[in-house]
Amino acid sequence: MNILLLGNGGRENALAWKMIQSNKLKNLYIAPGNAGTGLVGKNINLSTTDFPAIKEFVLANDIHMVVVGPEEPLVKGIYDYFNNDGQIRHTPVVGPSAKGAQLEGSKDFAKQFMKRHNIPTARYQSFTLSELDKAYHFMEQLEAPYVLKADGLAAGKGVLIIHDINEAKRELKSMLSGMFGDASRIVVIEEFLSGIECSVFVMTDGNSYKILPVAKDYKRIGEGDTGLNTGGMGAVSPVSFANDAFMKKVEERIVIPTINGLKKDEIDYKGFIFIGLINVKGEPMVIEYNVRMGDPETEVVMPRIKSDLIDLLEGIATQTLATRNLEIDNRYAVTVMLVSGGYPGDYEKNKKITGIESVTGSIIFHAGTKQTENEILTDGGRVMAISSFGNTKNEALALSYKNAEKIKFDKKYYRKDIGFDLD
Ligand code: AMP
Ligand code: GLY
Repeated sequence: MNILLLGNGGRENALAWKMIQSNKLKNLYIAPGNAGTGLVGKNINLSTTDFPAIKEFVLANDIHMVVVGPEEPLVKGIYDYFNNDGQIRHTPVVGPSAKGAQLEGSKDFAKQFMKRHNIPTARYQSFTLSELDKAYHFMEQLEAPYVLKADGLAAGKGVLIIHDINEAKRELKSMLSGMFGDASRIVVIEEFLSGIECSVFVMTDGNSYKILPVAKDYKRIGEGDTGLNTGGMGAVSPVSFANDAFMKKVEERIVIPTINGLKKDEIDYKGFIFIGLINVKGEPMVIEYNVRMGDPETEVVMPRIKSDLIDLLEGIATQTLATRNLEIDNRYAVTVMLVSGGYPGDYEKNKKITGIESVTGSIIFHAGTKQTENEILTDGGRVMAISSFGNTKNEALALSYKNAEKIKFDKKYYRKDIGFDLD
């Protein structure tokens, strides 16, 4: 099978790494990819949202399946673009329709979906600028802190959590007045939930589903979960508190109602669902949906899947997922992200990366890297994820940290406390 994988992060390198282990794969193309995906497949210089160019590539290269890494092409309707075009209709796109992608593209849509299908989540209401007084009134009924969410995609920056009600009211007004452009013309105000978070990944073909290994990511730049939010500084899987009893609740109260809800609402959804959960005193509540795999969670989830990923993806595309095998490795997997100094603020690119060849016992997934003629250079804030297995979390972490030392680039930074809050 020839596969086109869209994206250029650590997530895509981990997906590509897993795909090439399948004997069902003939050619793997990654658009646009990074230096790491270039080692396992062929990078293609195409934008993930240039649908006509993607179509042309698919036709010219006999592509049998398109797998979408990031949310943007999904929210922009790549699934529907293929479905509505006679020449490429028969090439499956792994990922939801634009309507399904609204679960991530619109927080208001996601909250309405959860409410309609009785999926546990924080109490909320949505408002526009013309409803400011009503919004203030709703806020006054909640307890601090106040959670304000821009409805649309805001590059991970659209959620504010504010303790002081007057400050929260001021921020609400600026959000509604366009602080995040059109993304915050509608703002979801919701009750604050206190607990520890984890990420649950589900594959679905629209009828059946499979739950992938659960993971926890570490979003803050600083140790002890302090400082600014990043794309993710590391991840671990499994997650100690997500035990069988907890996961049974997740499946019964959240996963099954989500799959059934998509069906009832006639939403075409063949792809990954990422459920951001919070454990509130043993009860799982949904914080958010994403319509793709997580990054850096994929860098621990893929290594723990023993089965053939392409076989599973084929199951999604042909609606035969129930007949496919999903076997999980019981060991711990962790990943530690090496980032450019200054990230998530300003940082420099084009730093030479050395020491990659001296890494032993870990898997390196490239995130922001690029290959020049004879060097690998940094090309983003998150540069490389170092994933390792272990019989315990600490054993796996020790391996990743040992190898993190060996890779060198100017102003390298990483968190040394990944997994600190878990048993
Ligand atoms: P989101 O973009 O929806 O994932 O929100 C970003 C982060 O804000 C989440 O990962 C949570 O840590 C936090 N958050 C969002 N909603 C809530 C809530 N209702 N209660 C507590 N924390 C929240
Ligand atoms: N790790 C969180 C995300 O991918 O959005």
